[in-house]
Amino acid sequence: MDTKALALQEKDYIIDLRRWFHAHPELGGHEKETTRRIADALRGDGIEVTTFDDITGCIGTLRGALPGSTVMLRADIDALPIQEADTTKPYASQNPGVMHACGHDCHTAMLLGAARLLAAHRDEIRGTVKFLFQMAEEIGTESRHYVEKGCLEGVDAIYGMHIWSLLPSGTFNLEDGPRMASSDRFTIRIHGKASHGSAPHQGRDAILAAAAVVMALQSLVSRVNDPQNTFVLTTGVMNGGTRDNIVAAEAELVGTTRTFDKAFRKTIPELIRRTAEAAAEAYGCTADCTYFFGPAPLINAHRELNDIARRAAKEILGPDALVPMERQMGAEDFSVYMDAAPGLYGQLGCRNEAKGITSPHHSDTFDVDEDVLPLGAALYAQFALDFLDQK
Ligand code: NI
Repeated sequence: MDTKALALQEKDYIIDLRRWFHAHPELGGHEKETTRRIADALRGDGIEVTTFDDITGCIGTLRGALPGSTVMLRADIDALPIQEADTTKPYASQNPGVMHACGHDCHTAMLLGAARLLAAHRDEIRGTVKFLFQMAEEIGTESRHYVEKGCLEGVDAIYGMHIWSLLPSGTFNLEDGPRMASSDRFTIRIHGKASHGSAPHQGRDAILAAAAVVMALQSLVSRVNDPQNTFVLTTGVMNGGTRDNIVAAEAELVGTTRTFDKAFRKTIPELIRRTAEAAAEAYGCTADCTYFFGPAPLINAHRELNDIARRAAKEILGPDALVPMERQMGAEDFSVYMDAAPGLYGQLGCRNEAKGITSPHHSDTFDVDEDVLPLGAALYAQFALDFLDQK
């Protein structure tokens, strides 16, 4: 089965779908029309569809004619709260303030393209291919809902891909090891005591304590962390106080942490708590810390799976298509699936300077080189076939 030739035959279908999704973006958790359109397309190709009462997104199941294992291919489907800059494009967003500015419209269209060409060759498929259209990737760890519903039970491998504006069109990156960081959130509430601003000795200044906590937290990165370990701690929010001449009784800090090391990550909440409490206490204040574990680091831990995807990429995109790329400090909730089934994640270049397509992800001018979309569909399909054939 020549997945590339078949995908190129479906090029118009795939690009039309991408443009429809681009014109009708929906925010995470609200992808109702998107899900309906996906389900219709899958059913139209004779693929069984599972939808959910309480969440958006859906799963297509294609049983091959021959017995075998199960592979899952994943696309995320949500858009962002961004107003698209150029509203004159024929496929510009029709939902004000909402835009597919990360390329999830492309993932959805590529995966529907893969589903169509695999469904037409069901007789040649050994095992089962599942197509997971996931809601709300931008929100954090919403992927967990599909794991909690048991959707990954019996899945022998799960493959995800992101279209990538930093890589030239038609190149592909899939490296072993950590590829994206964890993304967790900490909140620290600092309690002091109010007094008149002219009599600070009668109060306990929560704002001063908060400032000390911010400074002390940075020393976790420079003094407590092993310099060989990548660790980011950013305090992005600092709120406190009520008036210019009142010593603040309360202050709040909210921030994010990033790392690639799963074991180190588990120690971060305690490091933050200890540091914040001690720094606040020096000013007579107390600190309450809460820590939310967001997406875990995304680690391509299964070399044999990665090799299948790399071979598929060379076959579809050409012998020189594989390119190196620095790992990213951004996060991706695909990592949640990787704890439930062996998984791997790659990035497909969509940047084309000659066509003026260079905007970064999450910008209001984001666009992609649509010529890569059928190739992305072929990559999905080829990985599925090669994985199932090898098992
Ligand atoms: Ni994205």
